[in-house]
Amino acid sequence: MSDKTILRALKGERLPVPPVWMMRQAGRYLPEYRATRAQAGDFLSLCYTPDLAAEVTLQPIRRYGFDAAILFADILLLPQALGAELWFVTGEGPRLSTITDAAGVAALKPVEAIHDTLSPVYETVRILARELPRETTLIGFAGAPWTVATYMIAGRGTPDQGPAHAFKAADRAAFAALIDRITEGTIAYLSAQIEAGAEVVKLFDSWAGSLKGADFDDFAVAPTRRIIAALKARHPGVPVIAFPREAGPRYAGFARATGADAVALDNSVSADWAAAEVQKDGCVQGNLDPRLMVTGGEALVAETRRIVAAFSKGPHIFNLGHGITPDADPDNVSRMIEAIRG
Ligand code: CP3
Repeated sequence: MSDKTILRALKGERLPVPPVWMMRQAGRYLPEYRATRAQAGDFLSLCYTPDLAAEVTLQPIRRYGFDAAILFADILLLPQALGAELWFVTGEGPRLSTITDAAGVAALKPVEAIHDTLSPVYETVRILARELPRETTLIGFAGAPWTVATYMIAGRGTPDQGPAHAFKAADRAAFAALIDRITEGTIAYLSAQIEAGAEVVKLFDSWAGSLKGADFDDFAVAPTRRIIAALKARHPGVPVIAFPREAGPRYAGFARATGADAVALDNSVSADWAAAEVQKDGCVQGNLDPRLMVTGGEALVAETRRIVAAFSKGPHIFNLGHGITPDADPDNVSRMIEAIRG
C-alpha cells in the first residue's frame, strides 16, 4: 500500500493525524503567487504556461508542507477547449461567450478537440509528477457539469444560477445535451490528467446546492456518477473526490449514489451531522469556514480542533469548506496546520 497519507485516507483508513490541504492553496493570499502571476501577465497565461503553473502549485507545498498539491488550472479551461470564448476581468471574475439555445450547444467543438487547448495543462501535471516531494499527493480536477454549464449559459458567475435554470426550463433536451457534452469532455480531460500523473481527481460542483429534487438527481448525481464510472473503468484505483457544495441533506448518500471515494463538505453542514450521515460511507474532507483564515485567533484553533475531533472516528482529510480568500493571513494557515498536527 502507498505511504501517501491522502491516498490511505481515500481508501478508507482512519489516520491518527488527518492529512491536510486547502482549496485555492495556490492563490492571491500568498506574495509569491502574486509575483509569479505578475510575471505571467494575466491569469490565463499563468494557467497555460506549464513552468509557471507548476511553480505556483509548488509554492504552498514548500511554505507549509501540505499533504497534497492541487494542479493549478481553472474549471473554465474546459469550456474554452470546447469552443467558448473565455477571459477574466480583474476584480470581477470570469467572462465567457454565452450559450442560449440548442444551436449554441450544437456549435461546440467535438470532445476529441479539447486536447489541442488543454495540452499545456497535461504538461504542468507531468512537471509536478516529477518535482513534488515523494510524500505529496498530486490532485487533478475539473468542474462538475452543472457548475460548468451555469458559467457557459450565463457567461459569468451568477448569484442564483438563474440563466441556467431558465435554459433548463425552456428546453430541457438542449440543456441535457449540454450537460452530456460537458460530461464527455470532463471524462476525456480527467483521463488525460491521470495519464499525465494525477493520482486523485476532484470534481467541483460549486453550485450543486441550487439544484432541487429530481434536478439534483438528474444534473448533480447522474453526471458525476457517469464521470466516475468511466474513470474507474479506465483507471481503476484512482480515487475521486466529489464536492457537491451546499447540497445540505443531499450530502447523505452522495458517495454511494455516485461512486465517489470521498465527499468534500462546505461549511454550512455540521461536522457532527456529517460524521454520522456522510462519513459512514467513506472519507470526508473539508468543513472549516474559510473566513477563519482571515480572522484567525483562538477561534481558528478551537474550530480546527473541533472538526478534527468530530471526524476522528473515520477516514478524514482536513480542508476548508471553500477556497481560501485573497484577504487571508498566510500565518493563519500555519496556525491551522499546527492545531491539526499538534
Ligand atoms: O485550488 C487551487 O489552488 C487550484 C486552482 C483552482 C483555481 N480555481 C485557481 C483560480 C481551482 C481548483 C479552481 C476552481 C474553480 N474555478 C471553481 C470551483 C471551486 C470554487 O471556488 O467554487 C470555480 C467556480 C472557478 C471559476 C473561477 N475562477 C472564478 C469564479 C474565479 C474568480 C473569482 C476569484 O477567486 O478570483 C476564478 C479565478 C481563479 N481561479 C483564481 C485562482 C487562483 C484567481 C485568479 C487571479 O489570480 O486573479
